[in-house]
Amino acid sequence: MKVFITRNIPDIGPEKIKKAGHEVIISKKDGVLTKSELIEQLKVEKPDALICLLTDKIDAEILDVAPNCKVVANYAVGFDNIDISEAKNRNIVVTNTPGVLTEAVAEHTVALILALARRIVESDQFLRQGKYEGWDPMLLLGLELENKILGIVGCGRIGERVANIMHKGFKMNILYYDQKQNQSLDTDLNAEFVSNVNELLHKSDVVSIHLPATEKTRHLLNRETLANMKVGSLLINTSRGSIIDEKVLTEMLKSGPLGGAALDVFENEPDVHPDLLSLSNVIITPHTASATKESRDRMSVVVADNVISVLNGEKPINSVL
Ligand code: GLV
Ligand code: GLV
Repeated sequence: MKVFITRNIPDIGPEKIKKAGHEVIISKKDGVLTKSELIEQLKVEKPDALICLLTDKIDAEILDVAPNCKVVANYAVGFDNIDISEAKNRNIVVTNTPGVLTEAVAEHTVALILALARRIVESDQFLRQGKYEGWDPMLLLGLELENKILGIVGCGRIGERVANIMHKGFKMNILYYDQKQNQSLDTDLNAEFVSNVNELLHKSDVVSIHLPATEKTRHLLNRETLANMKVGSLLINTSRGSIIDEKVLTEMLKSGPLGGAALDVFENEPDVHPDLLSLSNVIITPHTASATKESRDRMSVVVADNVISVLNGEKPINSVL
């Protein structure tokens, strides 16, 4: 059967699909396909399976031109780029890649927390700009993490891993907000569950977001909720940009209460609110939290396994429904 991939991904997955006896067609454009380009390619290729990226919006119009398609396999853990109900209406299976990028995203989150708390990017720029005139008792003072409160908003696999590293490695106290309490987290990390996000924002010195993008989580951090954050507190987001009102965030980074933010995701990627680019208390990375060689290879194998199982008529490993 024929599998279409919207952009080049690590070879290991496509090779596995070929070994399973299927044909693999990879989009020739090295870039995000526009909607009309994707429609054109699907009309020509008529694939039985579609492997797509979080930059591909898969909606009714796209699914309509892929009538043979049995599975849409997202090369990502988040799947807000896919209209799940439209896929369901057409009996198309949708899969994602959970688990295999947890460590990469958690490590990137920790890197951002440390870089923000210790003003690493700002310090690097300061020195490169020729401003360093010698050791200074008051130069670039940061926040020490030990015994401070880390608030985890969304404590799934990634949030839990970040909590573990920061509690066990850096002795931070953990608060978490989620739909339900996690007993093992309470016991292992002495973590405290809060059922109200405002309480978490009000108490935390560092807040890290690990939620999926849904209608419910859109702008969960808005003018009202962000105003509850502690003066000088730090906000990290490696999940999805839509969870924070980016415009309000930029205002609060200028006038408080926030002390700084480190962001890997943005509301209108690849665009970033222009003010974020000029603020020295902001660190930004281009949606690279899962970008390790190991993680991207594993994601490639997982999308392949998902596609192969559906094309074999078996139950997919990571169906999102
Ligand atoms: C990356 O953002 C992913 O959802 O895998
Ligand atoms: C995503 O993989 C999560 O559960 O955090």
